[in-house]
Amino acid sequence: MPARETWATRLGFILAAVGSAVGLGNIWRFPFLTGEAGGAAFLVVYLLFVGVIGLPVLLVEFVIGRRSERNPVNAFERLGKPGWTFAGAIGALAGFIILSYYSVVGGWVLQYVIDSFTGAYFADPEGHFAATATGTNAVLFHALFMGLVAGIVALGIRNGLERAAKLMVPSVIVLLVILAGYGATLSDASEAYAYYLAPDFGEISANLFSIIPDAAGQAFFTLSLGMGVMITYASYLGEDRNLLTDGLTVVVIDTAIAFLAGLVVFPFLFAQNVDPGEGGAGTVFIGLADAFAGIPAGSLVGAVFYIMLAIAALTSAFSILEVIVSFLIDNFGVDRKTGTIAIAAVLFVLGIPTALDLTYLDAYDLLANNILLILGGLLLSLFVGWVYADGALDELNRGRGSDGAFAAFWIWTVRLVVPIVLVVTLALGVSGYIEFLNEAFF
Ligand code: PHE
Repeated sequence: MPARETWATRLGFILAAVGSAVGLGNIWRFPFLTGEAGGAAFLVVYLLFVGVIGLPVLLVEFVIGRRSERNPVNAFERLGKPGWTFAGAIGALAGFIILSYYSVVGGWVLQYVIDSFTGAYFADPEGHFAATATGTNAVLFHALFMGLVAGIVALGIRNGLERAAKLMVPSVIVLLVILAGYGATLSDASEAYAYYLAPDFGEISANLFSIIPDAAGQAFFTLSLGMGVMITYASYLGEDRNLLTDGLTVVVIDTAIAFLAGLVVFPFLFAQNVDPGEGGAGTVFIGLADAFAGIPAGSLVGAVFYIMLAIAALTSAFSILEVIVSFLIDNFGVDRKTGTIAIAAVLFVLGIPTALDLTYLDAYDLLANNILLILGGLLLSLFVGWVYADGALDELNRGRGSDGAFAAFWIWTVRLVVPIVLVVTLALGVSGYIEFLNEAFF
């Protein structure tokens, strides 16, 4: 057997993990969920979940990956617990659902790249979004986006992607800071900040049961957790790294970008008198249209922004497809090109309903994030906390500058806090989903 590939540099691993984490979740999904759930109340619970659940589960995945040096489906067998293979399989299922509609939203972004040059969305942001989001054009651009992802995976041109990601993260941050600065000058900015940043604790407790599954699902989605992406990436790790430092880096960058996106979107929505709860999946597209319409060289800034967002979306989508394809290659000896094309075709068909009707998009999105990712994260945590704790602790403590006291704290968090919170979350997620299905379809 040839030696297993590893990341050439520490930066390579961090970039890939950040590239997977930073995507539509931060800039598209986070602002619209925050808007729907009433602003600051959601932000507070979300930040809590990122710290209390997100970071520990990220480390769970890192540990399983680096220890097993396998993809999420084969990792358990390699660790001597083949009975847990189903946990990895649930992740793969979540990946299928997520990527099928993620690509549709990626297609919207591609349309907005083009529309920036023509200024097509400047005059009527809401109408333009409605025309973009569903219909034949949405299906075609969904095909284009999926084709790009499949091309990257099939050709194995990850190098190009990593180079793009290197540029993408700082560019996204710079652009968001500039736009947030511009947003601060708008007339209703202080109202927008109060909405986004000043939590009303009465509101949190009144809506807690709906906020919890949304906030937890978003924490998992945005950090690419619960479906084995981080297991796969960590399986290529060399041994001298401190997993905690790497995990913290990913969490901080990812959270900062989502937070910044909120600082941009809300002032512009308020300036347009768009109720942030009403924008739905269009929130960020509608809010930003106004931003780009108002600034000098707005077409150009808009185009650059959407190109960066497209790259961010591609690096995330790539990570999902790569997990599914590498599993096929490892287990069924499928050749990379054939496997990629077949999976991409299935994903394209699966995504079509969400490109025709946004109700389906919500149905896929909630099922994957509020239920499957949470279930995946719960199983992985139970495995590490109760079945494989000694090996996991050993693994976390390997690497320069690791800290035994933190490891002890972490393992108890994974044993108790994470499962309790995730079981509650899962129950709320399932009941919320049943309610959603009843309202939407029956
Ligand atoms: N984290 C990505 C984003 O925020 C989405 C993603 C979810 C990627 C799950 C991989 C796995 O856009």
